[in-house]
Amino acid sequence: MISPNSGHKIPDLEQDAESSESDVLNLKSPFRILFFGDVVGRPGRSAVRIILPSLKDEFKPDLILANGENLAGGLGLTRETADDLFSYGIDFLTTGNHVWDKRTAIDYINSEERIIRPANYPEGAPGRGYKILDGMPVGIFNLSGRIFMEALDNPFTVAKNIVNILKDKCKVILLDFHAEATSEKIAMGWYLDGKVSAVIGTHTHVQTADEIILPEGSAYITDVGMTGPAVSVIGTKKDLIIQKFLTQMPVRFDVAKGKVRVCAVIIDIDTKTSKAISIQRLQRIVER
Ligand SMILES: [Fe+2]
Ligand SMILES: [Fe+2]
Repeated sequence: MISPNSGHKIPDLEQDAESSESDVLNLKSPFRILFFGDVVGRPGRSAVRIILPSLKDEFKPDLILANGENLAGGLGLTRETADDLFSYGIDFLTTGNHVWDKRTAIDYINSEERIIRPANYPEGAPGRGYKILDGMPVGIFNLSGRIFMEALDNPFTVAKNIVNILKDKCKVILLDFHAEATSEKIAMGWYLDGKVSAVIGTHTHVQTADEIILPEGSAYITDVGMTGPAVSVIGTKKDLIIQKFLTQMPVRFDVAKGKVRVCAVIIDIDTKTSKAISIQRLQRIVER
């Protein structure tokens, strides 16, 4: 049983579980997931709109995910900005520490089943931390790290509880581990190796070159990177951030303009074994 502190909506899960059983045999293998790292502001959204048709042609993904915590002006998300991504072909959004930055997100995320927030928010937080997708035995969950971040519940304990719920209902389980410290992320990869199909890191906005299939069959990468302005400091206008480092004075976090670096991964999963077959990093520049 899930920890009482995990803030999940058990009735939603039970409803999902009813429909998942008959779909297990129908899930194609390999099952291919395309995952975009943190999509930052209008530049990131428009880059997804521009590049997604060609990526669909090239890779033919079965499921397209993105981290949406920076969709609205770089800080948080709104119904309008999330709807932009859904209309471009993104199936589902994960989030992270910026999830509540826009006040309207609280009601919106509570009612939108295609968005999850970190599952280790304390009991009473709105929204949901995991989801079995409609019509397919695929479970997605989201956790936040705790090193150099907000003090949420223990992500390792919550991960264990969620995997115990999802493992009999899903052929594919993916975690977006939204965390700052590489050590915490690598430890989570090892902790969940063989228990989930993929542990995908987000949050730092910088893609790491350590993608791997771990020994027990989980795909892993420390960070996918961001889908946001290439000439920036992790999405924000570089001059503002340099000024902040020079003076320690507060600055506006304006999203930079110009060309966008699209960072993503493509993961193939054998749905007979639930193990990953491959993980491929992707970086593309979109001129706007
Ligand atoms: Fe982010
Ligand atoms: Fe973040």
